[in-house]
Amino acid sequence: DWTPGNVIADQVANIKAQIGSARVICALSGGVDSAVAAALVQRAVGDQLTCVHVDHGLMRAGEVEQIENDFVASTGVKLIIRDEKERFLTALAGVSDPETKRKIIGREFIRVFEDAQREIIEEAGEHGEEVKFLVQGTLYPDVVESGGGEGAANIKSHHNVGGLPDDLDFSLVEPLRTLFKDEVRAVGRELGVPEEIVSRQPFPGPGLGIRIVGEITAERLEILRRADAIAREELTKAGLDNEIWQCPVVLLADVRSVGVQGDGRTYGHPIVLRPVSSEDAMTADWTRLPYDVLSTISTRITNEVREVNRVVLDVTSKPPGTIEWE
Ligand code: XMP
Repeated sequence: DWTPGNVIADQVANIKAQIGSARVICALSGGVDSAVAAALVQRAVGDQLTCVHVDHGLMRAGEVEQIENDFVASTGVKLIIRDEKERFLTALAGVSDPETKRKIIGREFIRVFEDAQREIIEEAGEHGEEVKFLVQGTLYPDVVESGGGEGAANIKSHHNVGGLPDDLDFSLVEPLRTLFKDEVRAVGRELGVPEEIVSRQPFPGPGLGIRIVGEITAERLEILRRADAIAREELTKAGLDNEIWQCPVVLLADVRSVGVQGDGRTYGHPIVLRPVSSEDAMTADWTRLPYDVLSTISTRITNEVREVNRVVLDVTSKPPGTIEWE
């Protein structure tokens, strides 16, 4: 029988058997997957777990604070936050190609995470050799789409699977590897993870970095963050969060179009809304959002984000379009 309670009981037993009295580290991305994976491991082995959040500067408005405050408060996990915004911006400077961006973000993430691991091991002092395990919030669709499944095509490099260097003496703990997203949410609720984290829509590891079509800069990130916050706020206000699987908001940074705002000509950027409905992200349909909600989002973004003078709606299913633009 599949119930969240049974999954928790099974996984807690598996995790205890795998980890024993060793220490374990978890990278917390801010998303549902790593939060639920961490909560499961915490349930199994308590403070043998240390969580690390790498702040790559590609998160949406308010998300780092949510991890730092809400998640820690509700679970009591030990958390280290590494502020690496400058490092990622420098590494990504001048890069527009999507796969190159993904590879750079994945590579820098691993380097920062290795630094954090070293510090955790040093701090453990004489217990340093007991730090042996890494938690990953890998889901079943991630395994399949990254070529982990038989015959699966490698469509995009997902930076949360298989990205670990070979020379690391760590074993992976992947308690969500057989689960789909809705099952992970059910498990998270059963574990008492706060609802605002459990019901959070999927967000990619490379973050806003793959939602800026063109080069990533601090200024472009700020434009996208403000537009995204407006779209999320209005969708939530309209009660649509449960109807939408996720709604990437994408900045076409290399595109400009002519507009008129106030009494002046503008030459600004388009923002794309990509609301999708899906069961598991393997396929998706575009969500038929109410016109009045689209209208409010469009008016607010163009009024409140000066650099944006056009809001467009993506009406492509997956396939042929992927959910993210890069
Ligand atoms: P695509 O764009 O391939 O996305 O249709 C499918 C789902 O995966 C998410 N996604 C990622 N998640 N690391 C992640 O953890 C990644 O590198 C990544 N790329 C895409 C995407 O948001 C959607 O839910």
